[in-house]
Amino acid sequence: MSDTAQHDLIQRAAERLRNSQRPAVLTGAGVSKESGVPTFRDAVEGLWAKYDPMELATPGAFRKNPKLVWDWYEYRRGLVRTAQPNPGHDALAALESRFPGLPVITQNVDDLHEQAGSTNVIHLHGNIAESKCFFDCQGSPTLIDVSQLEWDKENGPPACPHCGRWVRPNVVWYGEMLPGDQLQTAMLASQRADVMLVIGTSGLVSPAASLPGVARHAGATLIEINPDYSAITRIADIKLDGPSGEIMPRLLAALGD
Ligand code: APR
Repeated sequence: MSDTAQHDLIQRAAERLRNSQRPAVLTGAGVSKESGVPTFRDAVEGLWAKYDPMELATPGAFRKNPKLVWDWYEYRRGLVRTAQPNPGHDALAALESRFPGLPVITQNVDDLHEQAGSTNVIHLHGNIAESKCFFDCQGSPTLIDVSQLEWDKENGPPACPHCGRWVRPNVVWYGEMLPGDQLQTAMLASQRADVMLVIGTSGLVSPAASLPGVARHAGATLIEINPDYSAITRIADIKLDGPSGEIMPRLLAALGD
């Protein structure tokens, strides 16, 4: 795409966003890529290269080998812990000055949107920095602050201080239901939106992938930011080709004051 064509598309997207009353945002792993956080499928490098992530991120895998799964998440937590928000996260957070309480629905389990300053982040797939009782013995979720626990890390996950059974990462595994309250909030935000920014998602994993369609069905304009084609592109009204760390600041600048 020529620079002129892309410039015109960004102007068009900015114009539509400027006239928006109730925008919403859906993000995926692509928005954290420029922060050095590998996507779920990339997070099997080095020692973890021989594993299929789909065989690590399931309740069955955890039951079969809690230490292996816990150690993989400790490895991924280490990657996220050192990551910083990138200009894409920052531009999204800056949008809140124009749209207070802008709902940022994310499939990501990192907290980079929060670190950048977004205040209304809806985590559909959980938060990798948090842990909970595998059985949610005190109610869903039974969050556990593992920094307060002592245990032999060679043996894998700590024991839940309430029931003595396993502690696990507070993320949604394959085959599990999404946190109902988060999904309902995301669905409502998608139904109310008059513009939805869809940033850095392949649009392959439901129910998150259905939210742009829900917004569009309710009359929203879909603006997608992704360097590649995705399952959302065919229903996007405006497709901005490029990395979010580059496109989002340009969109914010085009919005003006
Ligand atoms: N800026 C914007 N988008 C990018 C960038 C970037 N710099 N780099 C890559 N992308 C795009 C890719 O083109 C792809 O479309 O981000 C998307 C990432 O797709 P996935 O890795 O499938 O991530 P996501 O859509 O969030 O996956 C959804 O599936 O991996 C599981 O549970 C995991 O939450 C995750 C879910």
